Amino acid sequence: MSRVSGAEVNLVSGEGCFVEDDGGRRYLDASAGLWYCNVGHGRREIADAVHRQMTSLAAYQTFDVFANPPALALAERVAALAPVDGDAVVFFTNGGSDAVDTAGKIVRRYWSLRGRPERTTVVARGGAYHGMNAYGTSLAGIEANAAGWGPLVREVVHVPAHDVGAVAELFEQRGSTIGAFIGEPVIGAGGVHPPVDDYWPQIADLCREHDVLLIADEVVTGFGRLGRWFASQRFGVTPDLVLTAKGITSGYLPLGAVLCGERVRQTMWAGDAGPFRHGYTYSGHPSACAAAMANLDIIEREGLVERVGALEPVLEAALAPLSAHPLVAEVRSAGLLAAVELDAEALRQRPGLVDDVVRDAREAGVLVRGLIGRSLQISPPFVITETEIAQIAAALRAALDAAADRRPAGAEAR
Ligand SMILES: Cc1ncc(COP(=O)(O)O)c(C=O)c1O
Repeated sequence: MSRVSGAEVNLVSGEGCFVEDDGGRRYLDASAGLWYCNVGHGRREIADAVHRQMTSLAAYQTFDVFANPPALALAERVAALAPVDGDAVVFFTNGGSDAVDTAGKIVRRYWSLRGRPERTTVVARGGAYHGMNAYGTSLAGIEANAAGWGPLVREVVHVPAHDVGAVAELFEQRGSTIGAFIGEPVIGAGGVHPPVDDYWPQIADLCREHDVLLIADEVVTGFGRLGRWFASQRFGVTPDLVLTAKGITSGYLPLGAVLCGERVRQTMWAGDAGPFRHGYTYSGHPSACAAAMANLDIIEREGLVERVGALEPVLEAALAPLSAHPLVAEVRSAGLLAAVELDAEALRQRPGLVDDVVRDAREAGVLVRGLIGRSLQISPPFVITETEIAQIAAALRAALDAAADRRPAGAEAR
């Protein structure tokens, strides 16, 4: 906290892919905030929808018999888009971490109703990020996020991120105690790692074989970032639970949702299932749901999911040459989601290198983020243009060149 004190970048407005600070300086928002501002900043249409809702019924809880038109309409709309089997049901949360917690409890409730309460273990991937609540912290595959809190949820097992064999072995040995497998279709905060070929279909097959629930954490990838409404569709899998947040409102108001497929619906929503004693004060918040409806209207009307598909090769081609830079180890991308990973030896010599490059890119007018002290996150709004993508690549190159020029005397980058 002391590092940022006095160095805050105080943002006051935004329009399209740009935000502006209190000194009138404009920045290209190459990370869409925290991977959420998919329709871009300054959409009056969303603000107007929220204003209309707030001046009729700003908020009302959705416990017991209560509902409201935006929550009902959004649930229906998202259920129709959901990449799950059968008639999806939608459980609204405040954001992604709550969606992860909710899924963790759904898994326990589901198996308890099925007469298998011992199936409590959730399998997560190395490098995974599943939010900041206690369940998500327990599931974290980013070691620094999971360490230092003392005992968390104990019924979690981690497997190497891309190793199907490790999952097969684990399921063989302990399948009867495993309730679910959770994963981000593309690992996000852990450094943007797309899956190796056929990873997801093979994991889905293993889950089916061993009767394990499959949870796709689509908090980053949901609502278009990989050129499909959901990344699960791109990778050919049908999860039992899909977790969403961020892109559901493009961040205009906080909202998350757990989309449940047939298997979970039939068990938990059956007449004799009893209550699911779980819910949030703001679950189904009408103003947040109104923001989501207006956001989805924009995505559909402007064809933004298709636009991501068209821009995917443009972003990939713009960033690819950076992989030859002496300070860069690798560039990875899928959809409008990319990372530039810095060279391990350069990072060893200069642990603050990522921060330096982020700061220099900002000085060059482009906002990117550091990921786990190794990579730079690029996840622009879907409305970005080809010229703006080129601007991101140019700013990153300038920042990397500046960092290379400042290399400590005698130190080799590679
Ligand atoms: C994959 C994933 N899951 C969950 C979360 C947590 O979402 P939130 O910050 O809205 O609680 C995030 C946030 O970045 C995420 O990337």
